[in-house]
Amino acid sequence: MKRLNLYLPIRLQLRFVVPLILVMTITALFSIPLIDSLTMRWVLRDLGMRASLVTTTLSDSIDEALRSKDPQSLQPLFQRAIRDEKLMAIALCGADGSVLQKTPEFPPELRCADANAASRLDSSITLQGRAMHVATRSVEEENTRGIHLVLLHDLGFQEQRSRDTRNYLLSVLAVLGAVISATTVLIANLSWRSWVSGVKSLLRGEEGSLAPQPSSPEFSQVADELRRRLRQLEDEHRRAHTTGQEWDAARLKSMLKSDLRDEQLIVASNREPSVHVRRAGKIVTMRPASGLVTAVEPILRACSGTWIAHGSGDADRDTVDSRDHILLPEHQPAYTLRRLWIDRIDEAGYYYGFANGGLWPLCHIAHVRPTFREADWECYRRVNEKFAAAVIAEARIKDPLILIQDYHLALAPRMIREKLPDATIISFWHIPWPNPESFGICPWREELLDGMLGSTIIGFHTRFHCKNFMETVDRYLETRIEQEHSTISFRGQPTLIESYPISIHWPSERERAAWPTIAKCRRDVRQRLGLDAQHLIALGLDRFDYTKGITERMQALRSLLEQQPQLVGRLSLVQIAAPTREELDEYQAFRVEIEQLAAQINARFARDGYRAIYLFTEHKGAEEVQELYRAADICLVTSIHDGMNLVCKEFIAARDDEDGVLILSQFAGASRELSEALHVNPYHIEETAQAMLRALNMPIAERRERMQSLRSTVREYNVYRWAGAMLGDAARLRLKDRVQARVRAYGSVDA
Ligand code: G6P
Repeated sequence: MKRLNLYLPIRLQLRFVVPLILVMTITALFSIPLIDSLTMRWVLRDLGMRASLVTTTLSDSIDEALRSKDPQSLQPLFQRAIRDEKLMAIALCGADGSVLQKTPEFPPELRCADANAASRLDSSITLQGRAMHVATRSVEEENTRGIHLVLLHDLGFQEQRSRDTRNYLLSVLAVLGAVISATTVLIANLSWRSWVSGVKSLLRGEEGSLAPQPSSPEFSQVADELRRRLRQLEDEHRRAHTTGQEWDAARLKSMLKSDLRDEQLIVASNREPSVHVRRAGKIVTMRPASGLVTAVEPILRACSGTWIAHGSGDADRDTVDSRDHILLPEHQPAYTLRRLWIDRIDEAGYYYGFANGGLWPLCHIAHVRPTFREADWECYRRVNEKFAAAVIAEARIKDPLILIQDYHLALAPRMIREKLPDATIISFWHIPWPNPESFGICPWREELLDGMLGSTIIGFHTRFHCKNFMETVDRYLETRIEQEHSTISFRGQPTLIESYPISIHWPSERERAAWPTIAKCRRDVRQRLGLDAQHLIALGLDRFDYTKGITERMQALRSLLEQQPQLVGRLSLVQIAAPTREELDEYQAFRVEIEQLAAQINARFARDGYRAIYLFTEHKGAEEVQELYRAADICLVTSIHDGMNLVCKEFIAARDDEDGVLILSQFAGASRELSEALHVNPYHIEETAQAMLRALNMPIAERRERMQSLRSTVREYNVYRWAGAMLGDAARLRLKDRVQARVRAYGSVDA
């Protein structure tokens, strides 16, 4: 629906009409006295002529009256003459300056000599408070030498005439001004409307919509400029996504500087990048096992900014300042972590209950029933409010760049939008998005979708998840969906739905130089496990989560050992399972199930100290993880459902020897990018077993070829490209918003 914005007419009136009124007023001020003096001159000339005419007409009678020495006889004649409304009085002056005859209206104080002097000036004089014109004319007859007539004309009529002229002139100028103003406003409004709609079409990406119009060259200049800038951004964006162009921390940083003018960056996530815990009376730093942290932390290192997260470590409070801030990384500060404190009850409801007991199983096809409780929902809402308040408190400008991470904070974008309407809010959903039927199970589905649609951009790992999300919104909310532009408009605000495959930081040469050699890693790991140097290691490295396909992986190993008994005693699965969400029954039960399965399989193949599975239920530090990646022959990523999975990418990055085989679930988002991995359906146990066998028998040349290709993909599609794509889109949307705000400030807009 169109609504008329009165701002434009008012601005136009101020801009065009006020100067017009000024010009007209000045014209009136100068022209009125000019016209007055001009007409006065005409009037005086006219009166002079009239005086001469009257004198000529009366001369005979005057001559006769003087000759008969009866000037009194002139009175009726004089009376008749002054019937003229302008001629007020007449007097006849003798040669000696005496008044021989006069009408009664002739002012007694006006002497003949004074009248003569006034007549010579030929201007108006004031007598008895009235403006008059005095004219003296000699009576040119035989007996009238020195005799003259004094004629007094009333100038009151001239004042009236001047007033009328002034009023008339002002009225004409006012009407003219009004007509010119109205026409100007109308024409400007029409041109502006067409220009505004042109700008809007351009912003919508309709090329050619602002083709220069011959009637408005100044507009087409601006349009050209705008088009050039938008194209520049498009090009930069395209270049950024063209293969061959390397993305790294420096490039991301410079992009933030140029396209986003180094504006304030705020990240919010549940998980923090560094946890401080107490171990044996000492405070130690731990990096949590989280794909989110793996991906987002390098971005904050590159771009600085503030990261708001739940302070979950038992020594977290001891390491922050009075504003709950801590600079990270501690040895080389690059960004600020603001810790948020969540009490036990809220943590139970928000984190364990709603997020991980409800949304996590809801979004993963893992055959674990989601649980939704009203009390958990309340906590979830409350904690989201807390995060939103913290983001708002950290904002130093009215339009910061805000990155909201994951399913823990689905409500926060709307809450932030209400307080910071100009902010650019990017929400990234790190886990899969289910189909509309599955999502419909959630009793608060509309509220969650509404919350997320407070974002400027919502990012998923794959197009498939974007499609699921758009279908879900279409099913449960009244919105306008533009498939072509991948946008959803809700509550008058558009949200871009886009896929951004997440990745990892690609290690620099300097970092790689510090790594222990592959040979050393192989030797050390095997030594620690009591294995001989030739022992084959299949590595599994996950959080202890039921979505990771750990059961299926172990079953596949069992199947392989059954079918290939020559591998018994030669091949082991080293499974690192970092404890996670242990308060939840599903996770406890899963852990028991896995420990029992590992024990069963180990018992089944036990001989001469051989263990088929080494299960470590513990959190490993970055160096140890790196050593394991480099020591393994195979890496098994067999998630039964996974948004992306970064373990596989880390494994690839660690293998600078270009060896090692990756077995990857087709249900992990990463499988779409990493086509040179051996893809498996983890539910198909024998297929996974076969893939393991194929990996173990794979010739070195093929291993190299596959690993080289995988490495070039991950190097190119690293986490800086991920962030660059999102921030690039954010920059373009911000530019569009700014232009639109300007356009809106001047013109009429779509409601
Ligand atoms: C997934 C989620 C992350 C989360 C991580 C670890 O990757 O997408 O948001 O941080 O799991 O889980 P946790 O519950 O320990 O944070």
